[in-house]
Amino acid sequence: MSKIRTIYSCQNCGAQSPKWIGRCSSCGQWNTFVEEVLEKDDTPKAQLKKDIGSAEAVPQLLEDIEEQQTYRISMPDQELNRVLGGGIVPGSLVLIAGDPGIGKSTLMLQLALSVPKLKVVYVSGEESAEQISMRARRLGLKAENCYILTETATYKIFRHLKELKPGLVIIDSIQTLQSQYIESTPGSVSQIRECASEMQRYAKETATPVMLIGHITKEGSIAGPKVLEHIVDTVLQFEGDRNYNYRILRTSKNRFGSTSELGIYEMGNGGLREVSNPSEFLLNQHEEVLSGVTIAGTIEGMRPMLIETQALVTHAVYGSPQRSATGFDLRRLQMLLAVLEKRSGFQFGTKDVFLNIAGGLRVEDPAIDLAVVCALLSSFEDQVVPPTYCFSGEVGLSGEIRAVNRIDQRISEADKLGFKKIFVSGASVKGLDLRKYNIEVIAVNKVQELYERLF
Ligand code: TYD
Ligand code: MG
Repeated sequence: MSKIRTIYSCQNCGAQSPKWIGRCSSCGQWNTFVEEVLEKDDTPKAQLKKDIGSAEAVPQLLEDIEEQQTYRISMPDQELNRVLGGGIVPGSLVLIAGDPGIGKSTLMLQLALSVPKLKVVYVSGEESAEQISMRARRLGLKAENCYILTETATYKIFRHLKELKPGLVIIDSIQTLQSQYIESTPGSVSQIRECASEMQRYAKETATPVMLIGHITKEGSIAGPKVLEHIVDTVLQFEGDRNYNYRILRTSKNRFGSTSELGIYEMGNGGLREVSNPSEFLLNQHEEVLSGVTIAGTIEGMRPMLIETQALVTHAVYGSPQRSATGFDLRRLQMLLAVLEKRSGFQFGTKDVFLNIAGGLRVEDPAIDLAVVCALLSSFEDQVVPPTYCFSGEVGLSGEIRAVNRIDQRISEADKLGFKKIFVSGASVKGLDLRKYNIEVIAVNKVQELYERLF
């Protein structure tokens, strides 16, 4: 009998060690090392080649390759096309990661059922064929070219794929796959790594795009070793607040396009709906105008979005005042409060402050600062900011309002949606022809100046 080689690997970062250690020297986590059988000597790697059915690679002239490399398969889902950089590249491996129940399987099944030109194989290790067919009925989609395969052993999957020759493969999920070349349990670091690289070889050698669904750990990172992110060509993060219906698809890595793109969906009874105009639905339609509510002109990904920010400033009930922020960085909120206190003399020290970004979105654009500051001041003074005003600017530590990128796009978006005034940094309007807008562009340089103009 041949010897079985084992290795200890960190379940957090994938670091390996020949013997067990208590604390991982690479990521610093405690008690994450688990023994895994590396490879059984009696299963030659050459078998894998047979499974995948690949031909030997031969050197090719770069000029000859280029033509097919730039070719992309455009999908009916425009949001997905957008985040992938204009369509899916044949032979690419795409990882879709997200919290449980966020809608990863729904998104992929919807894709599988809506590409009539492609033969799709949907490999599911999580749900039974009946469950998937129930979901498909719920989505109201039918397709003649979609195969469901409930299998987790990779060599069996490859056998079916070799026979079916699909145009797109979807794996739900990478954590359920099991390679026969690795002895450890599905979902362990070495299994995930092995299965992902087998999938990558299949994708590259047959020029078939493969989409992998991946789980997320409690801490919010992609479950499995970091190498998983290195193996795949594109990493898409599917996120959203479960209490809201909006879902956002972000690119965190893309070998074939930009990572600043963003896709927006709305989860409904009939599945996910693409949202092509985010501003219109992100703005809450209020009957009455309240203090503490302002509109920010932000850009997420490449798209301008108008987002409502809400602040509530009240007398602190307990000894130490509370600060709470939803959809906004708490430390940034504390910084803005300190700026208002120090530079403009507003006494927030004795107040509870709550901040909320409407729609359950998480905004990363610093241009939202100005709207946040105005919402805080508006609630502090209990004075209403007219709902036809919009704000776009970053606030610096000395209370100065700083320029933000692509101001032209932000102003145009607010203009298009019928806003009357937009407040921006003085520095960002330099060299801008303001006559082309109907909206009044107001340049402000200091927080104090903004306050005087508004209240
Ligand atoms: P699912 O795709 O199973 O999530 P994941 O694969 O990421 O774990 O999505 C499940 C959720 O989506 C579930 O809570 C129900 C909801 N949902 C709808 O609201 N409408 C629908 O049409 C479908 C199919 C699901
Ligand atoms: Mg699922």
